[in-house]
Amino acid sequence: MHDPAAFRSLHVERFQAEPAIFVAPGRVNLIGEHTDYAEGFVMPAAIQFATLAGVSPRTDGKIVIYSENYGEEKTFDAAALPPTRHREWTDYPLGVMQILAGEGHTIPGLSLSLWGDVPLGSGLSSSAALEVATALAVESLIGVSYPGPVVARLCQRAENEYVGASCGIMDQFISANGQENHALLLDCRDLSFRMAPIPNHVALVIANTMVKHSVAGGDYTTRRAESEAACAVIASHRPGVKFLRDATLEDLEKWGHEMAPKSLMRARHVISENLRTVAAAEALLRGDMTELGRLMAAAHWSYSKDFEASCIEADTMVELAQDLPGLIGARLTGGGFGGCTINLVERSHAQEFSHVLGKRYTEKMGIVAEIHICHASGGARRIS
Ligand code: GLA
Repeated sequence: MHDPAAFRSLHVERFQAEPAIFVAPGRVNLIGEHTDYAEGFVMPAAIQFATLAGVSPRTDGKIVIYSENYGEEKTFDAAALPPTRHREWTDYPLGVMQILAGEGHTIPGLSLSLWGDVPLGSGLSSSAALEVATALAVESLIGVSYPGPVVARLCQRAENEYVGASCGIMDQFISANGQENHALLLDCRDLSFRMAPIPNHVALVIANTMVKHSVAGGDYTTRRAESEAACAVIASHRPGVKFLRDATLEDLEKWGHEMAPKSLMRARHVISENLRTVAAAEALLRGDMTELGRLMAAAHWSYSKDFEASCIEADTMVELAQDLPGLIGARLTGGGFGGCTINLVERSHAQEFSHVLGKRYTEKMGIVAEIHICHASGGARRIS
């Protein structure tokens, strides 16, 4: 279905109208986990798994949204959009429309078809892909075209304010601004960013532990609160520290004893992860894959031991990859508590790597992993 022609037919048959079609990708994060909401650094890449959104205007004042994935059609009044979430898939597109309405736009009657192949709950940002695809589709009907960083912020707000998940901006940002064959180093403080080419001989091998993860779930929020509590302790001594981005490891040495032990661990992860992420971008830019791999490994164990956001399955997936030929670096990617590992692998070894990793994982865990050989893809755009 990644075929725009088939997707177009689906929309035309259902709504008897020609759609404008948009695509927005999911993402994999190479490094920089739980740093975005601390105004720190992240380095994700967009991937070929994506959401398609087809949109056409209606004259009856209705908003009709069809999801091919759920096989469901839902109808709303454009003039009276539900003010709060319903804990359904429609929360994502409706949240985006509510945020656009809040920006002073009148949301017209429209038919919206949606389809996506970003695996749900796998830490590859299916929600951000859905939000960004919807945003571009709706923007096209209201006649605005926000720059990528603005689209990202609007979609993040839809997720924070409407869906009720306290995520940072990484996922929406990379979905809206990704570039083919590049990772994106984002400074989440001012949204300045820099593209770092991923060499052709390097493949992104994404290994799904098949353990479901959710940003809306309690663990993500708890970790965020714990790290913010550590920040508050530092800020009580150094008022200039507004976010952990501003804090240093020396701050933890000085005032760590005033923090709850878990808060200290969370902060140690976030502060060291910011340093690793900037160093990783520099390594990638100068083509130093060995250093990049070393930083990814350190990031994984910091995420697992200090942030306690990994799980047996993800740790196992990372460990089983270590001695495989071609591995540059492996770590758990995304919000944590399940989902996928990202493995940077020499492309010539990627097939064999995936095969053996999958086999080892099944032998050890009794779970059949889905393993995908990916490349960095382009960001959200109109495709027809
Ligand atoms: C999820 C969130 C992001 C980010 C990551 C962790 O993907 O949506 O904003 O916080 O977790 O790095």
